[in-house]
Amino acid sequence: MRVSVIGCGYVGLVTGACLAEAGHQVICTDNDPERIAVLKAGVVPIYEPHLDTILAANLRSQRLSFTSNAGEAVRAGETIFICVGTPPLENGEADLSAIDNVARLIAIEACESKLVVEKSTVPAQTGQQLKRALGVYRRNGGIQFHVASNPEFLREGTAVQDFLHPDRIVFGVEDDFSENRLREIYRPILERRFRCPVHVDLCPATQPPTLVVTTINSAELIKHASNSFLAMKISYANMVADLCEKVGADIKEVTRAMGLDPRIGPRFLDAGLGFGGFCLPKDIQAFIRLAERSGVDFGMLKEAERVNKRRVDLFVEKIRQALWVLKDKQVGVLGLAFKANTDDIRFAPSLDVLRRLVAEGAHVRAYDQEAVDKTSAILPKVRYFREPYEVARNADALLVLTEWPEFRDLDWKRIYEMMGRPLVIDGRNLLEPKVMTEHGFEYHSFGRPDESLPAQFVQTPVSGVSAASATA
Ligand code: UDX
Repeated sequence: MRVSVIGCGYVGLVTGACLAEAGHQVICTDNDPERIAVLKAGVVPIYEPHLDTILAANLRSQRLSFTSNAGEAVRAGETIFICVGTPPLENGEADLSAIDNVARLIAIEACESKLVVEKSTVPAQTGQQLKRALGVYRRNGGIQFHVASNPEFLREGTAVQDFLHPDRIVFGVEDDFSENRLREIYRPILERRFRCPVHVDLCPATQPPTLVVTTINSAELIKHASNSFLAMKISYANMVADLCEKVGADIKEVTRAMGLDPRIGPRFLDAGLGFGGFCLPKDIQAFIRLAERSGVDFGMLKEAERVNKRRVDLFVEKIRQALWVLKDKQVGVLGLAFKANTDDIRFAPSLDVLRRLVAEGAHVRAYDQEAVDKTSAILPKVRYFREPYEVARNADALLVLTEWPEFRDLDWKRIYEMMGRPLVIDGRNLLEPKVMTEHGFEYHSFGRPDESLPAQFVQTPVSGVSAASATA
């Protein structure tokens, strides 16, 4: 099928490249001509595993192409996927101006009827507005626009795998034509008929994706409701971690046992610095605003957001407690990206931590596998290194801010010897307290007993319960 993708951010690129891989003829456009020039040359401007391979292969086979001529892209596709950004406005609502611009573009440039698919994350009822806008801006009364919603559930770092091996695919449609067209586009993925770039030999024998066909409003809501639920789950785990610190329990033990209940599930219960990135923080805000506008008091979402915002305060407090004065202290940082396997630093908790340290006069040296270039462009007062051990040299403290698994495998004996003071504060609960203490480190994390401190400093008795009655 002939498919156009408007917007070459990570959602657009992954969608375009994977649909080409699935056998469709795909043309992508973006309003940033430099980005298009780079993509035409086969360079992927973001770090996303496997994307470079499928992009290069499909450019070569000419199933995938890029153009900065948006009109050409609109005219080429029978189906157009809108993948433009919907960043948060000052008040937290999603900025839909890019969608509006694209609606105008499609309505003016289209010479034949089209299926227009929202892939960008948008609040419920945007599909209705999009349909209205396409009708209003249309020049050629003889053509028809069908509108559908097909929300993405792509996690950065595993986006290609998520696209080709999804748990579920959601079509929000209002007619058979749109549903059948989308079924045709997704058939190779639903039937697992594609050459998988993720699994070289054989894809794991998991369940095929479930196709969920809904109304457009439901599909839009599914996306916001899913991400907001994930955000609430993380905030819940973070509050339990705070409680663990007070009562002397271990959050890892607690969430492991909780997660074994299939009604709860083990994922998104990792306590620490909280959620960042360009989806969860903005989606929960947009969902809060949608609820407010609709007259629904969704207070628990506001609380989840508030809990998340406090994580950096709590972390900085942990640093302060350990270091006392921050001014002129040498602080090493491991990890800048908002999570592992990405170079994305948008709404990363690490940025707030770095800003606070710099403002208090600490000398910060930072390392990340992928995110150094992006961070150094906005926080020049930090010194950046492309090698993790350098940030530990003479440091008074080493902070872990991203859950890159590689940090577990560092030579911690060597780091111990390099540091001025062997203090590690782990904002992602990535390392094992016992192992770190055995290496000789003073080690702090979220919601886990500090092995390096004698028990009486760890357990604060629950207020109103004396130590004697608590053990009775
Ligand atoms: C998210 C959704 O998961 C995905 O389905 C959607 O379509 C896009 O938004 P992404 O933004 O890539 O994906 O990140 P995600 O993996 O959800 O992680 C978000 C943040 O939560 C990260 O900062 C991560 O470090 C944090 N996190 C995640 C936790 O703090 N604890 C956890 O248990 C899980």
